[in-house]
Amino acid sequence: MKPKPASIPAVLCRDLWKSFGEETARIEVLRGVDFRARFGELSFIVGPSGCGKTTLLSVIAGLLNAERGSVELFGENVAGLSGRERIKFRRRHLGFVFQQCNLLPALTAAENAAVPLLAAGWKRRAAIARGTELLVQLGLEARVRAFPTKLSGGEQQRVALARALVHQPRLVICDEPTAALDHAAGEAVMELLAAAALRPDSAVIVVTHDTRVFRFADTIAHLDDGRIARPKTPSP
Ligand SMILES: Nc1ncnc2c1ncn2[C@@H]1O[C@H](COP(=O)(O)OP(=O)(O)OP(=O)(O)O)[C@@H](O)[C@H]1O
Ligand SMILES: [Mg+2]
Repeated sequence: MKPKPASIPAVLCRDLWKSFGEETARIEVLRGVDFRARFGELSFIVGPSGCGKTTLLSVIAGLLNAERGSVELFGENVAGLSGRERIKFRRRHLGFVFQQCNLLPALTAAENAAVPLLAAGWKRRAAIARGTELLVQLGLEARVRAFPTKLSGGEQQRVALARALVHQPRLVICDEPTAALDHAAGEAVMELLAAAALRPDSAVIVVTHDTRVFRFADTIAHLDDGRIARPKTPSP
């Protein structure tokens, strides 16, 4: 991919519209969303339950198509790529943490964390060592060989975070990454995300209700009534 000038945002969403359901049961979730996330920044999206935060993240990640509007990642209109190119782009450049963790049940925590590296052709040992390193940073040293069904919700969430960061993607997208965590674990997660966002060619987007972690944000965008209010810099 061509290097992009710094003036291009990492993520640029213009006038996104998305609804679910038919006729009388139809709900308009996104109603003209404009959003941008800059390189080197940790961007938060907040808003009431059901306002469309997960829907917006899914559209940004290319997992859902909007009915109208456009999404550019690193200056590239990903919807314009062929199916194969889009999968390759996503695998290489994106890391996700979903609200449901979607870990692979037959793999241990360390193997789950290593999946993006294995998919990129890394040797198994090196990939698992790198996955384990991240799990240790997230306080899961004692759980690296455990299978997902033996992990608590908060432990599963941290394994999913390790998997999202392990291949150093340019864009990390996290849906409520600290929801199931206590204060100390939540801080460890946010510190890793803040470090990932510091890289000048990377960006991190976090959806959260967790006011304890708002101070980590470089910008906070409020989604309500299907639109984003003008992003504000958080007060110190
Ligand atoms: N696949 C779907 N089919 C029908 N309705 C949907 C679908 N996905 C989401 N919705 C509805 O769209 C609205 C927005 O959902 P979304 O999951 O984006 O909200 P959210 O802001 O992430 O909420 P929360 O904070 O509770 O996670 C909700 O009213 C939800 O019920
Ligand atoms: Mg949600």
